[in-house]
Amino acid sequence: MELKAIKGFRDILQEESPYWQVLESAATKILRSWGFHEIKLPILEETSLFKRSIGEETDIVTKEMYSFKDQKGRDLSLRPEATAQVVRAYIQNRLDLKESITKVFTIGPMFRHERPQKGRFRQFHQIDVEIIGDPGPIGDAELIILAWSILDACELKGLSLYINSLGCAQCRGPYKEELRGFLSQRLGALCSDCQRRANTNPLRVLDCKVETCKDQVKDTPLITGFLCDECKAHFKAVSELISRASIPFIEDPRLMRGLDYYTRTTFEIKAESLGAQNAVAGGGRYDQLIGHLGGPERPAMGFAIGMDRVVEVMKEQVEIQKSTPKVYIAYLGEQARGIAFSWLLQLRKSGIPVEITYQEASLKAQLRNANRLGATYTIILGEDELNSDLAIIRDMESKVQHKVELKRVTSLVCQWIKNREKG
Ligand code: HAM
Repeated sequence: MELKAIKGFRDILQEESPYWQVLESAATKILRSWGFHEIKLPILEETSLFKRSIGEETDIVTKEMYSFKDQKGRDLSLRPEATAQVVRAYIQNRLDLKESITKVFTIGPMFRHERPQKGRFRQFHQIDVEIIGDPGPIGDAELIILAWSILDACELKGLSLYINSLGCAQCRGPYKEELRGFLSQRLGALCSDCQRRANTNPLRVLDCKVETCKDQVKDTPLITGFLCDECKAHFKAVSELISRASIPFIEDPRLMRGLDYYTRTTFEIKAESLGAQNAVAGGGRYDQLIGHLGGPERPAMGFAIGMDRVVEVMKEQVEIQKSTPKVYIAYLGEQARGIAFSWLLQLRKSGIPVEITYQEASLKAQLRNANRLGATYTIILGEDELNSDLAIIRDMESKVQHKVELKRVTSLVCQWIKNREKG
């Protein structure tokens, strides 16, 4: 039997993981300084949570969830996104009683059974960020600028920000009616899902991935003409606040998101170099969701950064320094091995990146290994060195060798490395 990962699932190996570390640590640093707290959530939830929040008619719920019954017959799903569960955790843990504004983020894998392609996986990873309790527009603008700032800190170039307002329940009603009328003329050309959705949830047709449906909705009426005065003022205020951060943005009335819970502001950040799946972050306001799931009525907004896609762009655009050992320890013989191992432990305790030969080999082979790993210094301890009580410290670049008393080896190496780092 051939052992391999499931289609759409993949291993992230050592060549790629430094990019993930840079992204995660840049994001965490910025998020903390902007007042967000990390929470860790389970990967499994009751299926009904996602049905009720993301929407029964969405592609995610109808086609893409990994759902199953557990041993007790409960309907569970691997999380396809994190917002629904942040809201579940907010309600369950009564976070509304702790503070009036809750600012949280969570990082981890999500699961959607989509057709795998460049930038689209069945297990992918998100940095999900949410503010609960603020009706905006400051929260909206802050989150959009925050998403941009995280991507900027990872030195991503060629990004474009698209924003839109989907209005509130009040302006959405007449818009849906208009859409129903428009779509009823084109029903025959829509996929079977959209033929149903054209009546039950016409906004979802605008987001359908089937090519023929995409063609049919190219000239649909726009939500912009249906926004009520409050939603218009809200969107204008958000746009003005974003402008203050000098971030260029495009107002895109056709920006439709694949989840039902959105109200008012929505946005996406796209990386043009990625091809078809080019959204690296997306989010929006969801003022009704918490009340809808049985919690207190609280406005909220959030976004998620797609880490896999960001890393894809970073690999094209950003050079990350490889971590190399500063010191390599080469030894010959059993007695030398014990001393070499003690030096290894001492240097590690001092925070110096150091490697040692695992299986004893010739000195030539050990020096070759030190070179391959890019060590700055190699400490050499063979029989002659033991007998003379003097080890050799070799500068791997200049190839100059120094004889050093055994008891001074680690302190001297530490000092030399620190001097080099000072420049
Ligand atoms: P979303 O637009 O479905 O929003 O996903 C956010 C980001 O996750 C996308 O822009 C993309 O970068 C990444 N992503 C989504 N699906 C895949 C996939 N199959 N493979 C690779 N990357 C993918 C949400 O998930 C919302 N929960 C965001 C949000 C938070 N809205 C409010 N709060």
